[in-house]
Amino acid sequence: MTDLTLLLDRRLMRARKDAVPRQRRLYELLRKAILEGRLLAGSALPASRTLAQDLGLARNSVIHAYEQLAAEGYVQTSRQGTIVAALPSRPSPSMNDGPEEALANVALSARVQSFNRRRTAEQDLLPFMPGIPALDAFPIRAWRRLLQAAWSDPDPALLSYRPSLGEPELRQAIATYVRTARGVVCQADQVIVTGGTQDSLDLCAQALADPGQRVWIEHPGYGGARVAMQAAGLRVVPVPVDEQGLAPAAGLWRRQPPRLIYTTPSHQYPLGSVMPLARRLALIEQAKTVGAWILEDDYDSEFRHDGPPLAAMQGLVPQAPVIYLGTFSKSMFPALRLGFMVVPAALLDRLQGVLGDMVRRGQSAEQIALAAFINEGRFTQHLRKMRPLYAQRQSALRDALVRHWPWPGEVLGGACGLHLALTLPDDLPDLQAAEAALKKGLSPRPLSAYGMGGEPRNGLVIGYANTPAEQMDARVRQLVRAISAGLAR
Ligand SMILES: Cc1ncc(COP(=O)(O)O)c(C=O)c1O
Repeated sequence: MTDLTLLLDRRLMRARKDAVPRQRRLYELLRKAILEGRLLAGSALPASRTLAQDLGLARNSVIHAYEQLAAEGYVQTSRQGTIVAALPSRPSPSMNDGPEEALANVALSARVQSFNRRRTAEQDLLPFMPGIPALDAFPIRAWRRLLQAAWSDPDPALLSYRPSLGEPELRQAIATYVRTARGVVCQADQVIVTGGTQDSLDLCAQALADPGQRVWIEHPGYGGARVAMQAAGLRVVPVPVDEQGLAPAAGLWRRQPPRLIYTTPSHQYPLGSVMPLARRLALIEQAKTVGAWILEDDYDSEFRHDGPPLAAMQGLVPQAPVIYLGTFSKSMFPALRLGFMVVPAALLDRLQGVLGDMVRRGQSAEQIALAAFINEGRFTQHLRKMRPLYAQRQSALRDALVRHWPWPGEVLGGACGLHLALTLPDDLPDLQAAEAALKKGLSPRPLSAYGMGGEPRNGLVIGYANTPAEQMDARVRQLVRAISAGLAR
């Protein structure tokens, strides 16, 4: 008979202090001992009465723990008693290698080895975090009413698996919106609802390219795109940007022809340039020639501050190999997790089956509420309110930089969107500046972190959308103080 008192007694006593009932604790300790091989197959556990006495427990607690272990196959009970079952072969236990350590040592896939984002959700709320819209200005009551209305239809079908390409009314509402507001040429069936741009990028990377194929990504550019492409096993080729956006050297098409091209032509992320028409047309032509797909990420052009935006690349040329990617993360709010892709009609038939297999779409109420939000004109109304608010916040940021920024630098971008980029002198490394800022509760992002493997740029990307204009001056002074103190150290 195995004596369990050494194994259990002390730890079981500890259970008094925590909220876990002791029969549960006993079950967990025995299960762990069996899994780790400290209780070997074939060994008999003490009779319930004996163990209860030894541990000072009610007999029923022991019986319940044994029953649970038996139900899960860790022990077998017979007239001979309770015997530890033989489990399928496990890695042999070692003195220094507990199961947790062993698990942590199991290598992740090579494709994700370099991923290591440590940013927290709290950090996203700090002043100057790029990409966060004015959360306090969202019409949450109107949204709640539409959500409630979506749920008030008691049709149980809403609870089932929903159409993998999205709710039909939302696809229709998006098609109408992007046709008029963004010059996208499409019918509703070309619109595919996704869980945001990150999801769209994942789907495109997997459905349109094979592992080992090349994807061109703007450098500097959007880290989310790099992550999606690398996770799908694609080879990232950094392509420099200039004041007209993506600027591939002529020979690059021949030397490293891409399968996918990720670009932000309306507002290069993060430097802010706008790709002019001639370059858009040339890019489409070249992409056609090499058989590449262009992923046009139109993430924030709803917020244009200097006149109407250029129409999307998607609608420029018939049969352009362009997938248009839109998101509601900026125009609504990031936690909504809804976005969309507009795909060429020629792809629809094949994609329908492919995505039918790859995607399980839910959020039916959110999708229906969003369709109503758009159809009732609230979406355009909200955008109309946000544009001047963001323009005001941007100009407050520019003014404060002029007043307080002591270092030489150039402000880039700002024609639309929610952020500016600010270059830093070489003797002020952006990583150090961003780290010093974060210590004081501010979250501009280092420009070098947007690198795709090319020569890093030194600067800060500063989000202004979620900081009220009247606080901007104080925030910029705080940022200057934080960086100066960081430099002095
Ligand atoms: C360039 C770019 N694209 C897309 C997005 C939005 O991504 P998602 O729709 O996954 O929230 C962001 C958000 O920061 C972005 O900066």
